[in-house]
Amino acid sequence: MQIKNAVFVKSAVSPSDWPEASLPQIALVGRSNVGKSSLINCLANNYKLARTSNIPGKTRLLNFYLFNESFYVVDLPGYGYANVSHSEKDKWSDMIDGYLTRVPNLALIIQILDIRRTPSTEDVQMSGWIKHFGFKTAVVASKVDKLSRNSVNQNLKNIRTTLNIRNNISLIPFSYRTGQGKDELLTIMDIISVCS
Ligand code: GTP
Ligand code: MG
Repeated sequence: MQIKNAVFVKSAVSPSDWPEASLPQIALVGRSNVGKSSLINCLANNYKLARTSNIPGKTRLLNFYLFNESFYVVDLPGYGYANVSHSEKDKWSDMIDGYLTRVPNLALIIQILDIRRTPSTEDVQMSGWIKHFGFKTAVVASKVDKLSRNSVNQNLKNIRTTLNIRNNISLIPFSYRTGQGKDELLTIMDIISVCS
């Protein structure tokens, strides 16, 4: 799939703010700082589209981006970010849970992990949750440009084992810096958004 255009539509907290339910939505989930917003920019070929930061906790609302006028990509706040108050954490997890359990047209959940890190308890929980509810999913291991090829292969194996990802689920090594994994991810997104 070629991305012809990608635009920011809105930020939202509650369901009444979500865009109309007529188009499929693809959600990006993962810990803070793994590169969710950077991945959106890479797919869109526009590095000014989503705000990114080397300080975790940049994305604090649900952000909806409309791609090719035909599907939404939804940037969710990162989980597991320690440096916020309990009440803010609760607000974030309510926002993420509320979205994932209630949005009517969720076509695909892309779970993103930093290839350099062992998956956290929250990563494992998220993966289990996705499996339990039977959502279509793909897993992205980001920041592969930061590791040697050997370490990448070893860490991919570790991620597949720790998250217990079945062989029919794609685990895509990805780098927004080099564009590695971009085409594979766009192909999956295309199949899903056309089929839903
Ligand atoms: P939150 O909004 O806090 O949840 O973070 P996020 O998951 O949206 O991460 P973001 O895209 O803001 O990226 C965090 C940092 O990681 C930034 O400094 C990015 O430049 C860097 N980063 C993201 N992806 C990659 C990648 O593929 N390679 C490298 N080298 N750095 C990356
Ligand atoms: Mg972000």
